[in-house]
Formats: sequence, C-alpha cells, structure tokens
Amino acid sequence: MSLEKLKSLVTRDEKIAMLTCYDATFAKLNEAAGVDMLLVGDSLGMVLQGAENTLAVSMRDMEYHTQSVAAGVKSCCIMTDMPAGSYEQNNEVALVNAKKLMAAGADIVKIEGGGGIVQTAEFLIKNGVPVCAHLGFTPQSVMQLGGYRIQGKTDESALNILQDAIEMDKIGVSFVLLEMVPAALAKRITESIKAPTIGIGAGVDCDGQVLVIQDLLGIYTGPASKRPDDFKSPRFTKNFLVENHTIQAAIQAYVSAVKNKTFPSVEHSY
Ligand code: KIV
Repeated sequence: MSLEKLKSLVTRDEKIAMLTCYDATFAKLNEAAGVDMLLVGDSLGMVLQGAENTLAVSMRDMEYHTQSVAAGVKSCCIMTDMPAGSYEQNNEVALVNAKKLMAAGADIVKIEGGGGIVQTAEFLIKNGVPVCAHLGFTPQSVMQLGGYRIQGKTDESALNILQDAIEMDKIGVSFVLLEMVPAALAKRITESIKAPTIGIGAGVDCDGQVLVIQDLLGIYTGPASKRPDDFKSPRFTKNFLVENHTIQAAIQAYVSAVKNKTFPSVEHSY
C-alpha cells in the first residue's frame, strides 16, 4: 500500500496497524495477516542482537534488514529507522544515509527527536525522502533521558512534545510516532496536526499503533546479559499468542484489535 493510500485510511477513520519486522519470512506473514505498514526498527539491536539498547545498531544492519524485509513483501509499505549517528551530524550525511535505506527498499525513514532534528527532517523531505518523526520517549536518547521513562508527564514537557509535533507537521512529515506518552497528550497531538500519529504506549486515540513483534508474541525477555526471570514486559505490550495459538492468528488478532480499537486498552496506556 502506498504512503498516500495509508494516510487515506485515517480520513476514513480506519486505524493503521503497524508491526516491527526484520526478515522476509515475517514480512510475508505480516502482509498476509493484513498489517498495513512494517517498521524495520533499530529495536533489532535489542531483540535480534541482544544489546541493552539501540545505540550500537549500524547503517549496514539497517540496510541488510530492510533488504530482507523488502524481499518478503509484494506491496506493504516499509518504514526504516535511521540508526543513531546516521543523521545528527549534518544534513548532507543524513541525506546520503536516508537514500541508502530507500535504495535498500524503504518507502519512508524514521528519525528520532524534535528541536534541531526538525531542520534535518525538512532537508530530507525537500530532497524527496518521506519522513516519520519519532517523539516522546526516543530510544536513541535513552542515556540522556535517564532510562526507559514516560515522557510528557509535566505541563512543560507535554507542551514541548506538542510543539515539536506541530513543527514536524508544518514541514511536511508523513507520520508522527509517539512513544510512551500519556494517552491524553497523544490525543491532543493527534487532534492538533494533519499528519497521522502512530502510537506505542500512547493510548488508543492515535491514528495507528505499532508493536515490536517479539512483544506481540511474548518472546522477548530482555538483553542477552540478563536472566529471563528478571525481565518485566512494559505496560504497553500485549502477548497476542497466548489466546491465539499460531503466529499468524496472533498477528491477525493484533490487526483486528487495532482496527476495532480494543488495543491498546486503558491497562496498556499511561
Ligand atoms: O525501533 C523500533 O522498533 C521502534 C518502535 C519502538 C516504535 O522505533
């Protein structure tokens, strides 16, 4: 599905169901199960490589996994994360790297942060690269943010995130992804901007939802260095495999739950 068609789902009041995907087998399976858009997320650093965070993921990793996902789909839209260090230096470096990801099969790239990143997003868009802005909890800044914490809890930080979303919308981003923010803030942002919002830990009122596939299947148990028993899944995740018995059925159940607005529920929101 093209980016424009995807956005038109929102005008018809249909939610966008998105999942992370890192290889051709899951890409094929996700497309068949009705997932609207696949995210080749740099979360692969954690769920595939076993790291504590996403910071060591390279451009080579992202190109490789984007190519693998692209090999598995017929027409499903692919969004690829620009990894940490690939776009912050200057606009020209960002554009060269974004074009490499597009050449690998991405339809759109995602970059994290507001503030100075707005002009990077604008430069990419002016040079023909569609962009999704990732705001709220931005995993590539986990060190600066002091850990995996909900963002936008105070009036001031909520206003900053809202303003970043408005700025990103003005310069023409295709989507705004909101991670780990209060549901009320995500609702306000969704009502304030034209670009569709995609939420993860951001309540049911976003225009779409995304989950990490390993969380949907309940198989992620933390970094390779930690004992599985010590890991507690974040509140916003849900194991869809428990009640659905096959991976295909679990993904279909997730898509239905997003479309009929039963996921996320209050228990998955902040
Ligand atoms: O890398 C990723 O999977 C992401 C999601 C958490 C939204 O950015």
